[in-house]
Amino acid sequence: MSQALLSVDNLSVDFSTYGQTHHVLKNVSLDVPARSQIALVGESGSGKTVTMKAIMGLLRQPPATIAGGRIFYDGRDLLTLPDKERLKLRGTAMSMVFQDPMSSLNPVFTIADQMTTILKYADRRLDRQRNGRDRLARVHEVLTQVRMRDPERVARSYPIMLSGGMRQRVLIAMALLSEPKLLIADEPGTALDVTTQAQILKLLKDLVEARGLALLMITHNLGVVRETSSYVYVMNKGQVVEHRPTAELFAAPREDYTKALIAAVPRLTGGTRFGTAEVAP
Ligand SMILES: Nc1ncnc2c1ncn2[C@@H]1O[C@H](COP(=O)(O)OP(=O)(O)OP(=O)(O)O)[C@@H](O)[C@H]1O
Ligand SMILES: [Mg+2]
Repeated sequence: MSQALLSVDNLSVDFSTYGQTHHVLKNVSLDVPARSQIALVGESGSGKTVTMKAIMGLLRQPPATIAGGRIFYDGRDLLTLPDKERLKLRGTAMSMVFQDPMSSLNPVFTIADQMTTILKYADRRLDRQRNGRDRLARVHEVLTQVRMRDPERVARSYPIMLSGGMRQRVLIAMALLSEPKLLIADEPGTALDVTTQAQILKLLKDLVEARGLALLMITHNLGVVRETSSYVYVMNKGQVVEHRPTAELFAAPREDYTKALIAAVPRLTGGTRFGTAEVAP
């Protein structure tokens, strides 16, 4: 077994729909060492979110079935861990940064309400004693960490009162509340304009580096891969087809599929980032 903080070992997941079985993940293996920045990239439908859900224990079974493999966090096999133990890890040892702030935030509660509720559940799971005032102080602290200028005002706000970039930062703050060691970000910022998305990615990168966290960045965008990771796993049709240090992958992609992904990165001057793409639209 590897020494990685998170290690996915030959994971296979099937989905059964209308009596048919689809092999959605086929022997996926990946390692996320402590303090590393790893990307998982692939086109739409390649299995990235299913991989993330399997790691977080969020796959609905049925229709999904774990057909094989193991997932280790800090040496413990998550798939055989009792539910209670597993719940303790979710949102505490490892956290998700969700993609779509509008559907991930509840419009009728303030940011402080939503964040203190998350903290209350996390505290309960971890048998940690903390009163309401301390929880609110922690919320302000985390909002400051994600570079909110006026954390008290943001905490009192309803989601609709914040800009898209601020809402995405709130989601990052939520993921940080319980001081996880691993952040899993599934396409963060894709609902934002490119400038704001770039700021969000920079913030995430700065946070994980400053706080010594590991980051698993899930994206279909190779620009994001280049900005945020030092090692990359390329997925296609439910399989990892190539994995290398990010710089090497861009310098000399091996797989035709990876070459096609790289060629498809758009360029503002027309054509594509690395010449003319020989891929179907
Ligand atoms: N609940 C489900 N029932 C049946 N099939 C599913 C279900 N969820 C996902 N799938 C299938 O699993 C495959 C992988 O989906 P997944 O959501 O992991 O893709 P993805 O790589 O995250 O794509 P995107 O970039 O669009 O987010 C797809 O072919 C999808 O149709
Ligand atoms: Mg997805």
